[in-house]
Amino acid sequence: MTIETMEGHQSPRTVAESQSEMAEVVLPNDANPLGNLLGGKLMHFIDLAGAMAAHRHSRSYVVTASMDHIDFLAPVHVGDLLILKSSVNRAFHTSMEVGVKIWVENYINGTRRHVASAYLTFVAVDQLGRRLPVPTIIPENEEEKQRYDDAGRRRELRKAEVERKKEGRLKAADQI
Ligand SMILES: CC(C)(COP(=O)(O)OP(=O)(O)OC[C@H]1O[C@@H](n2cnc3c(N)ncnc32)[C@H](O)[C@@H]1OP(=O)(O)O)[C@@H](O)C(=O)NCCC(=O)NCCS
Repeated sequence: MTIETMEGHQSPRTVAESQSEMAEVVLPNDANPLGNLLGGKLMHFIDLAGAMAAHRHSRSYVVTASMDHIDFLAPVHVGDLLILKSSVNRAFHTSMEVGVKIWVENYINGTRRHVASAYLTFVAVDQLGRRLPVPTIIPENEEEKQRYDDAGRRRELRKAEVERKKEGRLKAADQI
């Protein structure tokens, strides 16, 4: 069966159905000599939290196609309790944009500080790595509708960037 003939084989899902949450205590092994969480380790947590939402929406295996727009807003320290929340902003044909927002929770006074945000694109695949169509998503409130529209704009920017890089590689190959 081709991707086209499988299109629409699953009913649409709400954003809420993909919403996921992950918590991590930052340990010394995850930090630099100043005791700050390594950016790469945070990206690893973001990838995992994002994949959870993509799995839930697509009900399939997924691979990370790209990660963009990561804003590291404040440092995270050893001993901090990290909270990562993710959900699918928009589903396309075989890909989904997932938003991940990260907080540090102060468990003494019960407050949360926003420390980072990221957008990732995941592609649904079967056990053999073949791409699979994903269900469409139903944004239910104003915030979800805004994210849905923004995800469409970001997809166009990503596509343009992929094309630009492809052309650059072709030009470089011509010059060899
Ligand atoms: C991501 C991957 C499946 C895309 O496959 P491809 O053969 O390039 O397929 P296409 O160009 O037809 O794109 C397939 C989908 O991925 C999306 N896509 C491809 N490259 C993308 C990128 N850089 N950013 C965002 N989306 C991307 C396309 O828009 C398309 O989405 P759609 O089906 O919803 O329209 C492929 O490049 C891959 O397997 N990459 C490695 C993934 C991996 O190992 N991740 C872990 C990294 S360590």
